[in-house]
Amino acid sequence: MEAGSVLYAAMSLTRDATSALCFGELRLSDAARDVGTPCYVYDLDGIADGARALDRAFAGAPHLVCYAIKANSAGAIVRAVAAEGCGVDVVSGAELILAVSCGVSTERIVYSGVAKRDDELDLAIATGPRGIGAVQIESLEEIARIEARAREAGRRARVSVRINPAIDLREATHAHIATGHDEAKFGVPLEDAADAVRVVGASAHLELVGMGVHAGSQFTSLDPYLHSARVLFDLVRGLRSAGPLPSLAFIDTGGGFGVDYGEGLSVTPGDFVRAVRAEQAAHGLGDLALYVEPGRSLVAAHGVLLARVIQSKATSAARWLMIDAGMNDLIRPALYQARHRVVPLDLDAANVESVVWRVVGPVCESSDDFGEHLLPRLAPEVVAILDAGAYGYTMASAYNGRPLPVEVFVRAGKVVARTSRGAVAAWAAERAAAGGVATP
Ligand code: LLP
Repeated sequence: MEAGSVLYAAMSLTRDATSALCFGELRLSDAARDVGTPCYVYDLDGIADGARALDRAFAGAPHLVCYAIKANSAGAIVRAVAAEGCGVDVVSGAELILAVSCGVSTERIVYSGVAKRDDELDLAIATGPRGIGAVQIESLEEIARIEARAREAGRRARVSVRINPAIDLREATHAHIATGHDEAKFGVPLEDAADAVRVVGASAHLELVGMGVHAGSQFTSLDPYLHSARVLFDLVRGLRSAGPLPSLAFIDTGGGFGVDYGEGLSVTPGDFVRAVRAEQAAHGLGDLALYVEPGRSLVAAHGVLLARVIQSKATSAARWLMIDAGMNDLIRPALYQARHRVVPLDLDAANVESVVWRVVGPVCESSDDFGEHLLPRLAPEVVAILDAGAYGYTMASAYNGRPLPVEVFVRAGKVVARTSRGAVAAWAAERAAAGGVATP
């Protein structure tokens, strides 16, 4: 690879003249040395640039990009996307509090989730001058509960009906992350959608402001996404022709824009938006604001997980490279058989021959396996696992008594913030105390 060249188009990763992997001027090997490994490093400029590019795809039409903060809820990242005008999609009371404390306008928050607790609904209804932007209804049964909480609060809660489009996209992505088929727990069944709209319309404590769909994640082509958008648009067009929906302000086609994990994807988040806007216009719904809820596509490519090689080992099965990051730090390979590229931080001109290494973590599970990767024959000291900015840290756990990894945030090639590693000794003491066992 050329020095200074961008490693992959949507990413801010480059190699400098000495072939060191960098975010801008920051050499990732310096970050690994300063904070220790495993650590996540994120490029906030790349994230902000991506948010701006997505915004341009709306060409000034009314819209809201609701960043799905489950992908990465680090405060620095939520603040960076909020500064670009994004709202957020939250899925818990804690995410709601986090978003508000990061300065996201309450008007720009939508709240999805099949099982929102009463206290979480109360928070959503009480937050902000008029409650949050919209609580997304996910079942006919949930409506009465939201209405009761709003009545109790003496407020009119703004709601949106999230439908289940009943289309099976399990082949178009991983089955675990397809949510729009009729065996999935998500959304109001399509056949109940008109009822849901009628029940909401009859309530003095609810106001129907939106209709939405989210059919799944990591769609690598436009068709599945457009298919679910069309189901929503057909429904809304039909409902409106049956009678006016005066408070309806937005249609929300959800998240799911796929990212390139190294297979050479050419479709961009902007392409998804432009295609959906064309469908929206074709359905005569151009007067409604278009909401989208991207998570992964805003952050995945701008985060790496750095790991140090602890040990190599050769067996008849493989040439193993054991690193200090495991499935507790990045569970996607174990959970979805996802492949993340693994690259050395530094390239050594004297060590150019590549061989296949099976890269695995230290966790006592066979699924703690990052797969086979071409890496220098002499094992590198530190490697970067790419595209780890989404669903990495937010899905991390302390399994095997491993502390959560440090996170480092970079702007203009400088570290602007970092978190600290959960202390293992404190973790052990707390667990011991919880069982009433005296600690040493
Ligand atoms: N909106 C809703 C209602 C969602 O459930 C999700 C993701 C999103 C938006 C954002 O989707 P995205 O743009 O990130 O595809 N842990 C899995 C992904 C789970 C996605 C869950 N819902 C993974 O690592 O692939």
